[in-house]
Formats: sequence, C-alpha cells, structure tokens
Amino acid sequence: MLGPSGAGKTTLLRCINYLTKCDRGTIKVDGLYLCKTENGSAVYAKPATVMEIRKKLGMVFQNFNLFPHMSVLQNIMEAPVNVFGVPKEEAREKAMELLEMLGLSDKAHSYPFQLSGGQKQRVAIARACALNPRVMCMDEPTSALDPELREGIATIIENLAREGMGILIITHDMNFAKRVATRILFLDEGQIIKESSKEEFFECLENERIRRFVAM
Ligand SMILES: Nc1ncnc2c1ncn2[C@@H]1O[C@H](COP(=O)(O)OP(=O)(O)OP(=O)(O)O)[C@@H](O)[C@H]1O
Ligand SMILES: [Mg+2]
Repeated sequence: MLGPSGAGKTTLLRCINYLTKCDRGTIKVDGLYLCKTENGSAVYAKPATVMEIRKKLGMVFQNFNLFPHMSVLQNIMEAPVNVFGVPKEEAREKAMELLEMLGLSDKAHSYPFQLSGGQKQRVAIARACALNPRVMCMDEPTSALDPELREGIATIIENLAREGMGILIITHDMNFAKRVATRILFLDEGQIIKESSKEEFFECLENERIRRFVAM
C-alpha cells in the first residue's frame, strides 16, 4: 500500500483490523465479511465473526506499540499464551526461534526502552509472527531499519509469503515495494486510486499523481 502522508493508509489498515470502525464500505478477510454496506452505511458482522476475523490478522504498528513494562520475550509470548492458550514452554521456544531469525537473541530479556528503533521494530515483527496469522498487516515495517536490516526483513517477508501468509504492507520505500510486492494499492486523499500488479504499477505510470509520487 503506497501513497502520500495523510492519504489514509494507516486508517485503512486500522479499519481492516477493527481498531477503527468505518462508516461505509466492504471489508472481507479470508472469505469472511467484517462489514458490508447496507442502505448507505456499514453493517458489521456478529461479534463471534469479528473475533474470528481478528484472530486471522497480525499487526505491526507504525510506532511499534510494544508493551513497555514487559521484556522482549514477554512481549512476544503475551498473546499466544494469554489469548490463544499456547503452553508457555512452546510459546517461549517459538519466540526464541523468531528472535534468532531476526538477530535479536541477546535482547530477549531487555525492555523496550533499552532497544534502538530498529530493534523495537524487529520485536514488533516477531510479536506479530508469533501468532502465525493468516494475514499480516505491517505499517511501515522498514522505516527504522538500515539497508542491511531492511534486506533481512525483505527476506523474512518473502519466506512468510512463500509459506502462504497473506501480507499487507504500507511503505514509503519504493525499492522495498519493488522488491517484495506482488500487488500495489495506491491511496490518495482517502481513496484507493489505483490497484494493480507491481509490474503494471511501476511500468505504466499513466496517472499523473502516481507518476509524480514515484519519481520523487
Ligand atoms: N482518529 C482520527 N480521527 C480523525 N482523523 C484522523 C484520525 N486518524 C487519522 N486521521 C486523519 O486521517 C488522515 C489519514 O491519516 P492516516 O494516518 O491514515 O495517514 P497515512 O496515509 O497513514 O499517513 P502517513 O504516511 O503519514 O503515516 C489524516 O489527515 C489524519 O489526520
Ligand atoms: Mg500511516
């Protein structure tokens, strides 16, 4: 998902995750309707369906949203253990595996305030991955990363996608988008103004607004 600052990218992601309710429109996740428009306004699914949909979604927030009073390991284990009832040992093992994969094994017992921006970002990614969601939503997952770490995240995303996870990423990084995307949505002033394959998006920039944005 691409588009200028203020276009509504984060808002759309929040609507999909039921963190913000929308007034109109249709949101369908993995075959289930979260909301549909009836008589001009959005009608939401029953609470059980909403819960089922939320369990399919993972979210990496733009500002990471780590729990400040919990260690890195506790941050990652929290939802699997307390929401999904995964046994503690199993959750710990999976969390350590993810930290290893993200080059953070030595930070398992650190607290968020002791981490750099890039490290916090990777913990947020590990925390979302720990739930093995059907669809992973990431709001600018590489904004705090140096080129080397960005390459690492790109590889992780490609591996997750290969294993069948749906991944929805907001980014301002065109090279990153070219590397990992298959489809591109372009938003401007609250509207999706283009939806296409990556190839089509970057090859035929017929829309003046998009051409200007990509060229910058
Ligand atoms: N809770 C809210 N209530 C009212 N307006 C909001 C709210 N959250 C965001 N907005 C407004 O909606 C617009 C879109 O914001 P949004 O955060 O979705 O942009 P964005 O595309 O993610 O931008 P950026 O690239 O800077 O993160 C902005 O004008 C913002 O001020
Ligand atoms: Mg945003």
